[in-house]
Amino acid sequence: MGPVAINSLMCLALAQTPVPRDIDLPLPIGDWQLKFLLVVLFLVHILFVNLMVGGSILAVVFELVGLNRSKYDSLAKRIAETITVNKSLAVVLGVGPLLCINLVYTIHFYSANALTGYAWISIVPLVIVAFLLTYLHKYTWDKWRGPYKNLHVIVGGAAAFLFLCVPLIFLANINLMLFPAKWVEVEGFFSSLRVGNVFPRYFHFLAASLAITGLFLAGWFGRRSYPGGSHLADFTGGELRGLFYRVAFYVTLAQLVFGPLLLFTLPYEGVNGLLFAAILPGVAVALVLLYFLRREIRAERKRLGPAYLGICLLFTLTVVAMATGRHVYRESSLAKHKTMIEDETARFRSIEFAAHMRIDAGYGAGEMLGGALTGEKVFRNCAACHAVNRVLAAPSLVEVSSIYRDNPEGIVNWAKAPGKKRPEFAPMPSFAHLGDDQLRLVAEYILKTGETARIPPD
Ligand code: HEC
Repeated sequence: MGPVAINSLMCLALAQTPVPRDIDLPLPIGDWQLKFLLVVLFLVHILFVNLMVGGSILAVVFELVGLNRSKYDSLAKRIAETITVNKSLAVVLGVGPLLCINLVYTIHFYSANALTGYAWISIVPLVIVAFLLTYLHKYTWDKWRGPYKNLHVIVGGAAAFLFLCVPLIFLANINLMLFPAKWVEVEGFFSSLRVGNVFPRYFHFLAASLAITGLFLAGWFGRRSYPGGSHLADFTGGELRGLFYRVAFYVTLAQLVFGPLLLFTLPYEGVNGLLFAAILPGVAVALVLLYFLRREIRAERKRLGPAYLGICLLFTLTVVAMATGRHVYRESSLAKHKTMIEDETARFRSIEFAAHMRIDAGYGAGEMLGGALTGEKVFRNCAACHAVNRVLAAPSLVEVSSIYRDNPEGIVNWAKAPGKKRPEFAPMPSFAHLGDDQLRLVAEYILKTGETARIPPD
């Protein structure tokens, strides 16, 4: 009976606290190592997510263009062939960061998951359907011609649409976990979209997807080993290279708008000097990157050229800077809530400790025994926190009885709806469920015991 009583008591004690306590399990490796892993693994994952999302958008766009200019249809098909591979890598590489975020931000991540409920869990079926559509789109390319072409475009468009939904759901979650103060207001996915700045983040992500895919495809079609002629006979290598370099260039240029939009719509709490220190170098590198991209576009080469690797490196540096900024913002906007969780955990431990002490001393932590009810028996409900003349997790009976001398009803009323008086204690849980009769018994008991203990022995 003991542990059960302690549990129900602690549930009561915590029922009134809006801030959860930490889950008391040791982490497999240190906190900062996990955070470092989280940032790095997430970057690798998001790279392939970008290629998957960007690829499916570009495949649809070029397939539409290809309805009138058939050479773009062949190009769209070649792009579609890359999506399924990138999507598999994105999924597999998503496991690592998911495990890390579970460990480091357990309470925040799961709270956000629970609050966006159905939408969050629907990521799984949405992704499955999107994958199946992507394969269908890829393998029916040559079969669904003529009257079926429109259907083929629709399948590709549906897959792309789903690929656009999943990151939005994900982002809404990741964004929501940053603002614990808003959790009480959130009622599901759509209302979570109003918290923080989901949409500027989303557009920044979409633009990054297109830019990175542009850069990837410039390399993919421009590489020496690409079997150009037979595959895309109507394009020259230089044409493809220029086309995708342009995609990367203009979309990155647009990020000069999306980036600041994201930054300046961030809820102010959490914006600090460190954030700027992380992202401003990234912006500087992006400007250099734009310069080199422009130069490469003008150079009109047939093949990639040695600048390609340099451009990829600059891109990587920019993305690393932005990802670091993202992490810095997350840490600083959660800092206050994390301290509150630590306090809550410490308070919980002290209540737990007090309850164990009471049990060990033979008082019982809250359960009722048989026989006639007496004030002393009812007091077992209170004994985990209140001792006669010592302070456990609450003021002693000596103190309580001096406040409520000749006023047992006062104790009854308090126990039914406890207030918050003393900052050093956690709030007392309500005992209204005991009913007035039991509370009156215990009130008399408290007054008697407290007063007796106060009178110094001769
Ligand atoms: C989980 C711990 C806990 C339990 C169990 C508990 N209390 Fe309390 N109690 C507190 C704390 C903490 C305070 C001080 C709250 C404050 O000042 O904010 C307190 C304060 C009081 C006070 C003083 C109120 C005042 O005006 O200063 C009374 C009376 C009281 N409790 C009665 C009871 C009775 C009766 C029970 C059992 C039916 C009980 N408590 C069980 C934690 C507890």
